[in-house]
Amino acid sequence: KTAKLLSLLDGQPVIPVIKIADVKDAVPLARALARGGLPAIEITLRTDAALDSIRRVAAEVEEAVVGAGTILNARQFDEAAKAGSRFIVSPGLTREVIAAASGSDVPLLPGVITPGEIMAAAEAGLDFLKFFPAEQAGGAAFLKSLASPFGGIHFCPTGGIGANNAKDYLGLPNVICVGGSWVAPDEMVKAGDWAGIEALAREASKLRKK
Ligand code: 3PG
Repeated sequence: KTAKLLSLLDGQPVIPVIKIADVKDAVPLARALARGGLPAIEITLRTDAALDSIRRVAAEVEEAVVGAGTILNARQFDEAAKAGSRFIVSPGLTREVIAAASGSDVPLLPGVITPGEIMAAAEAGLDFLKFFPAEQAGGAAFLKSLASPFGGIHFCPTGGIGANNAKDYLGLPNVICVGGSWVAPDEMVKAGDWAGIEALAREASKLRKK
C-alpha cells in the first residue's frame, strides 16, 4: 500500500495538517490549498467537525486528496475510511490500528520515533512512516541518523516544522515529504483568509525535494 499512498501524494513536498472547527470552512480551505499547489491534505480528528469536513471535501472538492489524521484507534480508522478519507495518518503505531489498516484498502501512515517502533512497523509491512513529533524528538539530525540502519524506510516528519526548517528535512534521503499546520493557521481559517492560505500553500509547494 506504500505505492498507493505515494501515488496519492504525487511528490507533494508539504502535507497540510488541518484542524477544522467549523465544517463550513472545510470546502473553501481545501480549495485554497489545492489552488496553492497542495491538493493532498490531512484533516485531523481533533474537532467534532472533522468527519463531516472529510465527507464534504471528498464529495465536493474533486481536485483535493483528503486524508484523515490523529487516528488513535480502530473505530476512528473505520469512521475516517467510511467518510471518504483516501489515506489515514496516526500519531503512533498500535496493534489495533495496524489490524484496522490491514483489513482496509485505505493506506496508513503511522507515527514512530524510535528504532524499536520502526522495526515493529517494518514487521507489519509498513515502510513509509510519520516521524512525530519531529522537532521535539530530535529533528532532522535524529532522522538523518536513521537512514543508515533503516535503508528501506522513508519518512514524513511532522511537528514543529515550518517554512524556516522544512528544507532541513526535505534534503534528507529518507524523507519524502513533511507535514505541518503552518500553511493553514487557525486565525487565517477563522478569518476566512483563503487568499492568504493559498499564498502560504504556493510558497510551501515550491519546497521541492532535490
Ligand atoms: C501533526 O499531527 O502532524 C502535528 O500536530 C503537526 O504539527 P505542527 O502543528 O507543529 O505543524
